[in-house]
Amino acid sequence: MEFSDLRKRFEAAGQGHVFKYFDELDDAQKDFLISQLSRIDLEELENLKETLLAQKRGAEVDYSKLEPAPYIPLPADKRASKEWQKAKLEGQKALSEGKVAAFVVAGGQGTRLGFNAPKGLYPVTPVKGKSLFQVFAEKILSASRKYGKSIPWLIMTSHTNDAATRKFFEENNYFGLNKSDVLFFVQGQMPAVDKSGKIILEDKGKIAMTPDGHGGCLRAMCRSGVIDELQRRGIECISYFQVDNPLVNILDPYFIGFHILGKSDMSSKMIPKAYPLEKVGHFCLLDGKLCVIEYSDLPEEYQRKVDENGKLVFLAGSVAIHILDRDFVKRLGSGKDAAFKLPFHRADKKIPYIDDNGNSVKPDKPNGVKFEMFVFDALPLASSPVIIEGARAEEFSPVKNAEGVDSPISCKNDQKKLFASWLDSVGEKIERDENGVPKSDIEISALFASNGEDFAEKWKSLTDLPRVVQGLYIE
Ligand code: UD1
Repeated sequence: MEFSDLRKRFEAAGQGHVFKYFDELDDAQKDFLISQLSRIDLEELENLKETLLAQKRGAEVDYSKLEPAPYIPLPADKRASKEWQKAKLEGQKALSEGKVAAFVVAGGQGTRLGFNAPKGLYPVTPVKGKSLFQVFAEKILSASRKYGKSIPWLIMTSHTNDAATRKFFEENNYFGLNKSDVLFFVQGQMPAVDKSGKIILEDKGKIAMTPDGHGGCLRAMCRSGVIDELQRRGIECISYFQVDNPLVNILDPYFIGFHILGKSDMSSKMIPKAYPLEKVGHFCLLDGKLCVIEYSDLPEEYQRKVDENGKLVFLAGSVAIHILDRDFVKRLGSGKDAAFKLPFHRADKKIPYIDDNGNSVKPDKPNGVKFEMFVFDALPLASSPVIIEGARAEEFSPVKNAEGVDSPISCKNDQKKLFASWLDSVGEKIERDENGVPKSDIEISALFASNGEDFAEKWKSLTDLPRVVQGLYIE
């Protein structure tokens, strides 16, 4: 588009102030600003101004209509359940036919952990200190060996961390994966606006652009061509997970099987909440549609509500693990169908800006709004969504906070507990402290086994059994 047309469009939309300092910029700065502006969808922004900015947070939901979402409960023994075994066979079939891809949303930084790098680089394992990315890579490599098919791994990065993420994979030789099976793409951005909906200039030649949320992955997969690449490779299911959870069972045949047998557009794993106010999303039904309501939005009385047996009514916590059907992503992400789009959520933030006199200001209270999409908002649009229960001890221990709950320490302890339970099952004695945490650091790589069943099988085949001592590492 010609520069004059671009300018006219922004002026007509009441956003002409973005050119206020344009004449002071050098050529490179001008080009940069123009490239930012040409990526902004003014119509979309106008709609957000009318709806989200005008609205009081949470005003749109009538919580009294909320019901808990149904789910497929975890049996005491999966091996004894016909339904679960049938699902497993179906999932294994899809994996051996090469129909499944893994997908991590990794646009975030490790800021909350005091780690100034892409979060996927954060060291998490108890003995070797492997990064989150390496843990995932080994799980994918191990599954691809087991099923005899290469498994594409999609990694969504952000403008902030794309280069550093790719460099990390290059430097580590893709952790043994084929480079051509690791498909990076960058998520989209949205302009931040002030409370009246005006786009914020972060600098004279720079718009305050912010990542468009993990829900932006649907558009980004389509825009980047990744979705077409998956189609070329015959992929039908995309196994979605977050970058913060090293226990995630990335290629779970049971989950994949339930998704396929349920003819679902999008399936999810739930884990019963550990305590009423656990900071997770809640699977609910609203007007008969499945949705996730964040802990920060769901009024506390609902988070604490119990039934006549004292059981939490809204028990099903979202661990942000889903399976997405490829064609569903294509339909949602292509933007062709206006009624078929993810909504935006607003977050009020402190956003540095250039004031009317051209000075840089760092606000000390929220002055602007950023817009984000959440992937779980695709659930109400999905046909036949399926939710299955997962086991917390085996699949969920995220690293989110520097200390306390969901911290590096709690995550290491949970990994050790899981590895110890596998060692228990083959008759090894593991000493634990009063909280059930193994006293020694132990670590089992997914390259050896990524679940208890596989571990027991592999262990039996070892001729020279390793001694269980401090620092035991099995690969
Ligand atoms: C999230 C979920 C919550 C769930 C919990 C489980 C949301 C709003 N909440 O919380 O329902 O119960 O995890 O652990 O999602 N990301 C991007 N791009 C973005 C924003 C995020 O790639 O623009 C990625 C991050 O890298 C991370 C994931 O999305 O992998 C989650 O983001 P984060 O903001 O850490 O979510 P939580 O608040 O922890």
